Amino acid sequence: MLNMTGKVAIVAGAGSVGTAGSKIWGNGKAAAVLLARQGAAVFLLDINEDAMAETKAIIESEGGTCATHRCDMMVAADVQEMVQACVDRFKRIDILVNNVGGSAPGDPVSMSEDVWDRQIDFNLKTAFLGCKYVLPVMLEQGRGAIVNIASVAGMRNDFRSGRSHVGYSASKAGVIQLSRSVAGTYAKKGIRVNTVVPGLMHTPLVEYRLARTVGGNDPQKLIDARNEAVPMGHMGDSMDVAHAVLFLVSDEARFITATEIVVDGGSTAFMP
Ligand SMILES: NC(=O)c1ccc[n+]([C@@H]2O[C@H](COP(=O)([O-])OP(=O)(O)OC[C@H]3O[C@@H](n4cnc5c(N)ncnc54)[C@H](O)[C@@H]3O)[C@@H](O)[C@H]2O)c1
Repeated sequence: MLNMTGKVAIVAGAGSVGTAGSKIWGNGKAAAVLLARQGAAVFLLDINEDAMAETKAIIESEGGTCATHRCDMMVAADVQEMVQACVDRFKRIDILVNNVGGSAPGDPVSMSEDVWDRQIDFNLKTAFLGCKYVLPVMLEQGRGAIVNIASVAGMRNDFRSGRSHVGYSASKAGVIQLSRSVAGTYAKKGIRVNTVVPGLMHTPLVEYRLARTVGGNDPQKLIDARNEAVPMGHMGDSMDVAHAVLFLVSDEARFITATEIVVDGGSTAFMP
């Protein structure tokens, strides 16, 4: 079940923000490690070489196979070069996980045009560029599976918090539709495209950034509030996201394309 032996997977954003050595991982790091545990050769890419090196060390300490490549997923030439480097190294690409992204606060009045543009590039263009340069390789192979990482922010709005991150919400909604649209175009060509939609997760982002930006510098208070906001009573973690990714790229999901797995402990269904 969910055997990835012989498969080559690119994971974009395979490092993690936060402290080196932390037991709490970002979604890309967890997906990369899990795919390697299941037997895939993983091509790790990130703009942060130290973060990526940490993921590599974990995979290699467990006997897995991986390589690292520095790449800014917002820059087309970088992505093109990265795809060629993966083909040079591993000869094929079976799986692409587009995981780069993150939120910036603001509504249309308070958000500058620059921040808006960057949010769209960070969350949506990165997934577009990944697809743009990997799809021709998958097309030639006649098979492939892509998973784009969105967010529940792209599906619903939390009016109770009084906060807005309009660029994030709009770009993550775009990611879901990007996946569906590309899936339709390539459905008869052996390439499946799906989205994983995480909700409130306990990743390094919570302590590293959100505690400062929205948590009043009180990480534990923020963690308690996020746990309480989830119907299951606690946040998920990056391995919950990684398992959804693993399933969607596996042969067991061979009839699944153009859809989403929402990993949110029930949050979306029970929003008031
Ligand atoms: N953390 C959450 O609670 C949460 C919830 C919903 C959705 N998500 C989504 O999951 C994804 C991962 O978030 P996370 O918080 O787990 O990850 P993270 O921010 O901890 O790690 C992402 C990695 O991407 C790298 N990166 C940033 N910009 C890059 C670029 N331009 N090119 C290449 N690499 C780049 C970073 O260096 C980092 O190592 C994002 O798309 C995010 O929107 C996260």
